[in-house]
Amino acid sequence: MRPDGRPANRTIVFRDYLPDTNQLQFAVDRRSLKIEQIAHQPWGELCWYFSDTREQFRLLGQLTLVQEGQDDPLLDKARQVLWQKLSDAGRVQFSWPEPREPRAENEAFHPPAPDPNMPLPQFCLLLLDPVEVDHLELRGDPQNRWWYGRSQDDPTQEIWSVQAINP
Ligand SMILES: Cc1cc2nc3c(=O)[nH]c(=O)nc-3n(C[C@H](O)[C@H](O)[C@H](O)COP(=O)(O)O)c2cc1C
Repeated sequence: MRPDGRPANRTIVFRDYLPDTNQLQFAVDRRSLKIEQIAHQPWGELCWYFSDTREQFRLLGQLTLVQEGQDDPLLDKARQVLWQKLSDAGRVQFSWPEPREPRAENEAFHPPAPDPNMPLPQFCLLLLDPVEVDHLELRGDPQNRWWYGRSQDDPTQEIWSVQAINP
């Protein structure tokens, strides 16, 4: 969501779950607009369509941005691990010229490869912690749809309920 209330969306690569949690991990650049938007509204919804099984999943969840200087050692480590898992081509994008500025010269896009063990300050780990999942299965006549909700009573517990609903 943009600060003025208009919607925003982008394609991002799912980078596995944070170990031993349901939180989804993404690699994002601190200079991107989504970072400002998360500060304003720390919620996101992602949509996945699996064309082989013809299933749509929409996951609504709370967002956590893990930046340089993160206090929580587990999250700091997760940021480091994700940086190490990126390819050189993935890492170097974080030292490309400032996003949204007028197009720079080509050589500015070929800086030296960043250190694989030292995340650049621009590199952030973004987490989405799902609280609702809307699952639509197109197969079947009629189609099937389920709504999963996570109880908000005790955030330390993962208690989910499921309800079959009309598509
Ligand atoms: C196939 C594909 C994969 C992408 N993966 C990512 C990603 O993992 N992380 C990311 O920040 N942007 C990714 N992008 C770019 C975003 O969609 C978006 O253009 C960019 O992050 C700038 O967004 P913002 O400034 O509006 O936040 C990807 C784009 C495409 C087309």
